[in-house]
Amino acid sequence: MNLKIYENYESLSHGAANQIIEVVRQKPCAVLCLAAGDTPRLAYTLMVNMAKTEGIDFAKCTFIGLDEWLGISPVNEGSCHHFLRRHIFEPLSISNDKIHLFDALTEDPQGECRKMDKTIIENKGIDLMLVGIGMNGHIGFNEPAGSFQAYSHVVELDETSRTVGQKYFREQTTLTSGITLGLGHMLEARQVILVANGSKKADIIRRTIEEDVTPLLPASLIRNHVDAYVILDKEAGSLLTPR
Ligand code: GLP
Repeated sequence: MNLKIYENYESLSHGAANQIIEVVRQKPCAVLCLAAGDTPRLAYTLMVNMAKTEGIDFAKCTFIGLDEWLGISPVNEGSCHHFLRRHIFEPLSISNDKIHLFDALTEDPQGECRKMDKTIIENKGIDLMLVGIGMNGHIGFNEPAGSFQAYSHVVELDETSRTVGQKYFREQTTLTSGITLGLGHMLEARQVILVANGSKKADIIRRTIEEDVTPLLPASLIRNHVDAYVILDKEAGSLLTPR
């Protein structure tokens, strides 16, 4: 695992954007799984700007959704779907046939999981997965649990995710379950980037990097990945033991 600590959120975002651009420069038909959330928002804006100014074409890329709030409509501003459309797909004019997101309104969530797993296999795996980390150490919606769920699954959200998740919504929203790629997808992705910023993430980052690797702290599994990058700003890295 590679650890990079940047001076601030802006430089972290530049670093992450550069890394995504590099993957697409080298493989224009890359399969990308880019998380929604506050952390990568600026990185995506910078990535879109660089794509336009440097002529990097994302049109041949395939986009895989990481996770979604079950039961929340894609037109709801708090949905991952809405976030990705607004910050990535619309500014880069990605065609719908290149976008594979979980249908949060499905009546058959298990079928939706099988469909996503099949899509990933048909596209020969994920080249780059960029993830954030939840306040409880979740990746996507892989919540702290005794069991390790390798592929797409439905999850009952834990209290932290339900509460923290309110920040994405304009009004109080009932969040009970999520649908998510599994940690096996993360371990099988050819490259993984985990981004975190701010002092609120400092303790969960310390535990992720310095405590045991365990499904009880899903993000810690990134340390078992062969080509993983943990990209932080100084605040998120402030509780790490100096090396
Ligand atoms: C959310 C999502 C994750 C996201 C993480 C961190 O609840 N399920 O996909 O990466 O938690 O979010 P943020 O970047 O807003 O802190």
